[in-house]
Amino acid sequence: MIDACEGYRNIGRYLYSTCRLFYISTGLKYLAIQTLVLPMQQSFCTHFSSAWLTTLIRNQNLCLRGDYNGIEYNARIVIPDYRSRIEQHYRDIVGTNLATFCQQAGIPMGFQHFGLEIAFSRPVELVLHNHEMELLDCLRSMIQVIGPVIIKNGYHQSALRSVGHRNKFPHLNFHVDRTANQVDHFSMYSRDPFDPEQKYPRTVSTLMCANIVGHLQSIREGVTDKFSRSGLKGTYTIFKGENMEDVLGNIVLQQAWTEPEGTGEIAIQDNLTCLHASYYDNPAYEGYKIGVRYVA
Ligand SMILES: [Fe+2]
Repeated sequence: MIDACEGYRNIGRYLYSTCRLFYISTGLKYLAIQTLVLPMQQSFCTHFSSAWLTTLIRNQNLCLRGDYNGIEYNARIVIPDYRSRIEQHYRDIVGTNLATFCQQAGIPMGFQHFGLEIAFSRPVELVLHNHEMELLDCLRSMIQVIGPVIIKNGYHQSALRSVGHRNKFPHLNFHVDRTANQVDHFSMYSRDPFDPEQKYPRTVSTLMCANIVGHLQSIREGVTDKFSRSGLKGTYTIFKGENMEDVLGNIVLQQAWTEPEGTGEIAIQDNLTCLHASYYDNPAYEGYKIGVRYVA
């Protein structure tokens, strides 16, 4: 169905039909069906389905080039082999079996790879949740498998563009926005290309990592005991003494928000499986507040 990263054309894009039923005066009935060529818009989940994600993950380069309603896109896994990277980075703490360590710590880690990025070639308006703030089923499923989903050159539908609030997070303070007690435990961050402030690239990035990374780094920095069974904390101020080149793109995903002026960007993550923080490359540039909405 898909020639991964070398061209993907959805065969269902030009289905169409219109029918006309009419009668002639003699009393005899005739049915005439007139077919016109009209593009049929595909829903987000019809295209970006579980099968689509499986195809991407099975591609040896972990990427896919495709076409969504006539708009080309490139999709890729942001951090391949995430589990192995964490195991290697924290070898001195976890030993050789991250799964056992996670089980003992009471902090599950289900990501083989981490982060999905879909970058559209042209601006696209997207319906990613409804008025009841319920996330699309396919996005919920994707996030469970792959963690954060990043969409570039996409923006929220006009009817729901201004919902939520704006916020900026502290530098390297990894935390959760929501807990398991809240139904809307997914956070959706966005840069609105039509907003006078957010239309410009942002100087502050957003970092996201699996929960276990916060726990492990906290152990490395001597804040949490290696044999702690207290589970996950709601906040960790970590990595301040680290060389971030060893961290970013390796065990922590960085959403830079630096696409050109007038480009929409959206990032979605699950607060039950991921921690997030801001990263100020230069503390002198605080940057504007990013759009935040919580979805179930
Ligand atoms: Fe936050």
